[in-house]
Amino acid sequence: MRLLKKLIEADAPSGAESAIRDIIISEAEKLGYEVNTDALGSVIAHRPGKGKKLMLDAHMDEIGVIATYVEDNGFIRFGAVGGLDIKELHKRRVRFANGTVGVIAAEEEKFEKKADPSAMYIDIGAADKKAAQKLVKTGDTAVFDGSFHQIGDTIISKALDDRAGCYMLLKVMKKLKKTENDLYFVFSVQEEVGLRGAKTAAFRIMPDYAIAVDVTDTGDTPSCKPMDVKLGGGAAIKIMDRSVMCDVHVVDALRGIAKQNGIRYQNEIMDDGGTDAGAIALTGGGVRSGGISLPTRYVHSPSEMASVSDMEECIKLLIAACEYNWE
Ligand code: CO
Ligand code: ZN
Repeated sequence: MRLLKKLIEADAPSGAESAIRDIIISEAEKLGYEVNTDALGSVIAHRPGKGKKLMLDAHMDEIGVIATYVEDNGFIRFGAVGGLDIKELHKRRVRFANGTVGVIAAEEEKFEKKADPSAMYIDIGAADKKAAQKLVKTGDTAVFDGSFHQIGDTIISKALDDRAGCYMLLKVMKKLKKTENDLYFVFSVQEEVGLRGAKTAAFRIMPDYAIAVDVTDTGDTPSCKPMDVKLGGGAAIKIMDRSVMCDVHVVDALRGIAKQNGIRYQNEIMDDGGTDAGAIALTGGGVRSGGISLPTRYVHSPSEMASVSDMEECIKLLIAACEYNWE
């Protein structure tokens, strides 16, 4: 779990992914892969083969906030970077790239009428505008402060979405044995602001098949929305989310691969968000796309929770998919 912790501790909101990008490039090069970075900043590691072109994708960016204006009194106005649950932000900590930590707070009366970032501010304890601007300027981004903990099979942390995916891809790249497939491992940027990095990466590769590796919600907490995915239930094979109807052949193939290899899997239909699979599927003349997801509670919070054993099942399924004879 040392590598996962390292990936998580690299703060990298959408559009400012350099800290995580550097780590991923160095890990991929250590594994002997040919590595490229595209104009948007996504990392593409290639393992050439004579078979079908298969693209595996995990996004590097995480949700966060961006400073939009510093008030005379030193409080910082901000906007959302990615899908933040605004109602949950009050009194949460965020950390800027230079290490400055601030508390998000609400103007309570205004906020009660409208739960919107315009009724909130970040407090870094600065006396006035000048003091604040020494630490934070317009355009600076910050991420949730949410440290990594492991308790037995359970992990709690910020940014499991989607550093867990990046971690799993790196593990697959390391453990993979012989395969004919022409494999592209993509670590995309800007997923959280609209599946943007995966789009240009897929255009460059134009794969025959693609699998997005990301987190998904669960339906296993008290009075939550029903969903056929639970923590500890194994890898989630995506059928649909708000961005994609997964290719039927890909879904069937992944289920077959799981059954054949004794890998525990569950059926994922996530109605609360999208994945890079949606952008990849609509690239060029279309790409047959699917997804393998890690069941995760409290997604998009500083306290995302997942299971190590589910991660192991996802890695096994991904390796078997890389070695599968796609036709
Ligand atoms: Co996300
Ligand atoms: Zn994600």
